[in-house]
Amino acid sequence: MKQYGYFDDDVREFVITDPATPWPWINYLGCEDFFSLVSNTAGGYCFCKDAKFRRILRYRYNGVPMDSGGRYYYIKDGDSVWNPGWKPCKTPLDRYECRHGMGYTRIIGEKGGLRCEVLFFVPQGGRCEVHRVRLTNTGAAVKRVQLWSFVEWCLWNASTDMENFQRNLSTGEVEVGDRILYHKTEYRERRDHYAFFGANRPFDGFDTDRESFLGPYNGFDTPQQVFAGTSGNSVAHGWSPVASHRFDLTLEAGKSEELIFVLGYVENPPEAKFSAPGIINKAPAEELLEAFGTPAKADAAFAALKGYWDGLLGRFQLESAVPELDRTVNIWNQYQCMVTFFMSRSASYFESGIGRGMGFRDSNQDLAGIVHLIPDRARQRILDIAATQFPDGGCYHQYQPLTKRGNHDIGGGFGDDPLWLIFGTVAYIKETGDFSILEEKVPFDNQPGTEKTLLEHLKISFARVADNLGPHGLPLIGRADWNDCLNLNCFSDNPDESFQTTENKTEGSRAESLMIAGLFVAEGKDFAELLSQPAVSADPAYVDEVREAVSRMETAVKQHGWDGEWFLRAYDYYGRKIGSSENAESKIFIESQGWCGMARIGADEGLCDKALDAASKYLECEYGLVLNAPAFSSYIKDYGEISSYPQGYKENGGIFCHNNPWVIIAEAMAGRADDAWRHYCKISPAFAKDQSLRKVEPYVFCQMVAGAEAAHPGEGKNSWLTGTAAWTWKTVSEFILGIKPQYDGLLVEPCIPQHIGSYRVRRRFREAEYDLTIRLTGKGGSFRIPYRPGFQALEIEL
Ligand code: BGC
Ligand code: NOJ
Repeated sequence: MKQYGYFDDDVREFVITDPATPWPWINYLGCEDFFSLVSNTAGGYCFCKDAKFRRILRYRYNGVPMDSGGRYYYIKDGDSVWNPGWKPCKTPLDRYECRHGMGYTRIIGEKGGLRCEVLFFVPQGGRCEVHRVRLTNTGAAVKRVQLWSFVEWCLWNASTDMENFQRNLSTGEVEVGDRILYHKTEYRERRDHYAFFGANRPFDGFDTDRESFLGPYNGFDTPQQVFAGTSGNSVAHGWSPVASHRFDLTLEAGKSEELIFVLGYVENPPEAKFSAPGIINKAPAEELLEAFGTPAKADAAFAALKGYWDGLLGRFQLESAVPELDRTVNIWNQYQCMVTFFMSRSASYFESGIGRGMGFRDSNQDLAGIVHLIPDRARQRILDIAATQFPDGGCYHQYQPLTKRGNHDIGGGFGDDPLWLIFGTVAYIKETGDFSILEEKVPFDNQPGTEKTLLEHLKISFARVADNLGPHGLPLIGRADWNDCLNLNCFSDNPDESFQTTENKTEGSRAESLMIAGLFVAEGKDFAELLSQPAVSADPAYVDEVREAVSRMETAVKQHGWDGEWFLRAYDYYGRKIGSSENAESKIFIESQGWCGMARIGADEGLCDKALDAASKYLECEYGLVLNAPAFSSYIKDYGEISSYPQGYKENGGIFCHNNPWVIIAEAMAGRADDAWRHYCKISPAFAKDQSLRKVEPYVFCQMVAGAEAAHPGEGKNSWLTGTAAWTWKTVSEFILGIKPQYDGLLVEPCIPQHIGSYRVRRRFREAEYDLTIRLTGKGGSFRIPYRPGFQALEIEL
C-alpha cells in the first residue's frame, strides 16, 4: 500500500513526499475574490471573481502529460535543469516536499546542493498570488545558477480561449517593464482589466511569447531558453502570450537568495485606463508589487493570512480521543466547507470552471458548512441566491458569480430547488440569530421593481412545492430532484442532447419524488418553527397552513411511499414505482431513506428504523453506502442519465458521499450511534487507509467513491467541490458531537459511540464562547444552553 504523504496536524498541513501522486492533489488559495488552484507540482490556474469570464492563467484540462500548465520555476545549475515541484521537467530530485496548508502551498525541491522553496499564497486585500522563492546553496562552494519563472496567460474567457483560434491567435498583446510583464489582450477595446507577473528586482532577461520560450514543438518540460541558459526577450504579438523572467544568480556557500513574485490582476476605472495612447495605466500593478514585494512584506502578509485562518478555525475546536476525528473537524472539513462555499461547483480538477457557475441548491447547502465561520458572507449569498428566484417560486438552477444572473441555458424546473432556500436561511438564522434578513427586500429574476421580502420568497418557495403535487399527493419531480440524473420526464434517445436541459414532458406528467417529499416535511417543520419565533410574528393561520401541508405530505408518504421494508424513491411519468422490491433493478435508493428518515416520517410506526436497517442491509459496502442497488445494468430511457453510468459509478450505484450524511443524520435522530459512526467513518478520508486506491486527495471528501458493483470499488473522484463538505460538517458537528444551534441557544445532544468517552468542544456562537466538556455516561438525553454573550465553561454529563 503505497503512501504519498501524511498529515501534520500541528501546523494544519498535509505533506506530500512523492510528487507522482495518483492524481494531482490540489489546494485552493484565496478567500475574497481572487482564487487559485494549485497542485502539488505547482500546476493549476487563477481567476478573479469568475472562473469562466476572468481567467488569468491558461490550463489544459485532462491534458497529457497530466496536470499541464501552472506557475513553473525552472532552475539551471550547471547542466542540470529542474523544477522545485518536479514537474514539468520531472528531473529526479534529491528531496521533494509539498505542504498544502490553509490558503497556502509550500513546495520544496532540492538537488545537487541547491534547495528551492516556493511559498504560494493569495494575500488578503490583494488580487494576486504571491510567490516567495528562496534559493539556498547548501553546499560548500559558490554556485552560479539561473532561475526562470513561467506562466501562460489565458485570454480571459476560459471557454472561447479553447475554441476560437481564428481570433485568439491574433489578439494577444503584452507590455514589458523592467520588473513586470503585463498581459493586456483586449484591453484596447472593452476590457478595463489586465494581468501582470512581476518580480521584486529587475530581471536579466524575459520572454512573453510562448514559442520563443519553449521553442517550436517543445513541451513545458523542454523550454529551449532554459536549456540554452538564455531568454529570447520576446514581445508577443498574437499567438500565445506568456510571462517569463530570468535571473542569473550567484549564491555563496550556505547562503540564500529570496525573490518575491507577484502574479496579479488589475481593474482600472474607464477614464484612467491608459497612461498614454495605447499604454496601460500601470500604477495599480506597481502598487500591488510594492505592497508585497519585499521578504518582510510578504512574510507579514503571510502571517496575516495565517492569523485569519487561526481565527476562523478557532471558532469550533474539538479535543477527542480520536485523532482522525479531531483532524477532520478542526482542520480539513471546515477548510473544505470554505472552499466549496467560494467555488460552488465551478472550478476544480473535475469541474472546468467554464461549465457550471453557482448552483441554487448547491450554494444553499454549502451555507450549512460556513454560517459559523463567515456569517456576513452567508447573509449576502442568501440574498444573491434568492434574487435568482422566479415570481412563481421556481428558480434558476445555476447562476454566474460575475453577473449574479441566472443561467438561461440551464433554466429552472428542478423540483427540489425552492426548498433549499428555506434550508439555507434556517441554517443562517439559527447560527446568527439575525432575523432581520427576513425583512430584506429581494427582487425576482433580478428584475428591479419586483422586490419582496426574503420571508415572502420563503413562502413562495414553500408554496411552489406544496401546490405542485402529483396523483399520489407527492411532489412533482420536474427535470430532476437532488439527483440530477433521475430524469423521469425526459425520454432522451438522442446522444447529442442533455438529459437535464432538454425540454421536459409536462403534459400528463405524474412523476413524483419521495426525496422531495421527505425534504418538504423536514423543511416544512423547520419553516413552521421559524415562523413561530417571536421575532417573526407570522400570521398563526398561515403557520397552521404550513403544518397542515406537512402533515398531509406525511400521510401521503405513509400511504403511497412505503414499500414494506423501505421508502420508495419515486413514481415515474407513467405512475410506476421506482425503488421498490417490485423493480428488477435499483430496488432501493438512498435519498428517500435519508430524507424521510430525517423528516421522521412514520417514526412511531417503526418506518424509519426499518428504512435505516434496509439501507445498511442493501446499500452498505466497504467504502460507504451506495446510492441505489442493484445498479442499472443498461440504459433506461424512462429514467434518464442515472442509467447512463456504468454500474457502481456516479449516480448509478456509486457511493455518492453527499447523501450518506442524510442517512447518518437519520441514524443519529433515531438514536443509533454505532450505525451513524460506522457510516461516517467509511466516507471520511481521514479514516481511509489506502491512498493509492482512493487516488484523490486524502484530506478532502469527494463527491463519489466507486461502489461495490464498480470495476474498481473504493476509487474516489470529484474531490473538493461537493455538498458532502457541508453535510458531513453538519453531521459531525450537530449530530455526532451534538452541538446544535437553536434560535435561543445551543442544544447539546450527542449521538456518538460510548467507547469514545468524553470530549471537549470550544465553540464561538454569536457573541458567546463556550468551552464544553461532554462526558458520556450512558444515560443519554440532551442539555440546553440558553444563549448568553460572554465566556462559559460547562461540564455536561449525558
Ligand atoms: C452528474 C451530476 C451533476 C450533473 C450536473 C451529471 O452528469 O452526474 O452529478 O449534478 O451532471 O449537470
Ligand atoms: C452534483 C450536483 O452539483 C448536485 O446539485 C446534485 O444534487 C448531485 N450532483 C447529485 O446528482
